[in-house]
Amino acid sequence: MPTLLKIDASPRGEYSISRSLSAAFAAEWQKNNPEGTVVVRDLMKTTLPFVDLPWIAGAYTPAEAHSPEMHNALVISNELIAELFAADHIVISTPMYNFSTPAVLKAYIDHIVRFGVTFSASYEGLIKGKKVTLIIASGGVYTPGSHMESYDRETAYLKQIFGFIGLAENLEIVQAGGSNDVAQGKKTQAELVASFVPQVVAAAK
Ligand SMILES: Cc1cc2nc3c(=O)[nH]c(=O)nc-3n(C[C@H](O)[C@H](O)[C@H](O)COP(=O)(O)O)c2cc1C
Repeated sequence: MPTLLKIDASPRGEYSISRSLSAAFAAEWQKNNPEGTVVVRDLMKTTLPFVDLPWIAGAYTPAEAHSPEMHNALVISNELIAELFAADHIVISTPMYNFSTPAVLKAYIDHIVRFGVTFSASYEGLIKGKKVTLIIASGGVYTPGSHMESYDRETAYLKQIFGFIGLAENLEIVQAGGSNDVAQGKKTQAELVASFVPQVVAAAK
């Protein structure tokens, strides 16, 4: 039975463009995989401590030699990594904040990129054979090749870091830019979301 892992990072709940699109993605995926399971990881409802000394020490110490502090520091990291290994398709939806990822998504990334667990000493990614769809909502539009592209420090980074842990092969990105037009009353949020739905529906195949 296939599993979709749906990871959402926006704090804007029902007003979120990225969450609307990951919901459309999940609905389509479920239609295509009626027997499949959707696992939701809502980063707004997950307590994600920053990496600290026990975390680092634990990450570089064999589990059987962990102190209680090291063990505790890695509980959430282990849980998040297990979700990735258990998934067949991973959809990650996020806003762009200050041309990059919101801090909550960076905190998530710091927990899942682990030496010997998700990448090896030779920089080989250890999570293999998954499909990944990244949905990035932004106020501006950062079309590749345009003069705006160089402002976008999120798209290439997310592609790089998920590729680094082995997820490069089947990784697709939906750049859902343009919510400035909604803020300026040039189009409705529903119109903006609808314009990206065909892309997410295609990615859910
Ligand atoms: C704190 C903050 C920083 C933002 N920084 C940027 C930015 O650097 N570039 C951009 O194009 N949009 C930026 N935006 C706009 C959001 O990316 C945009 O509203 C997006 O639709 C948010 O995703 P969501 O609708 O899923 O919450 C920012 C919004 C907030 C709240």
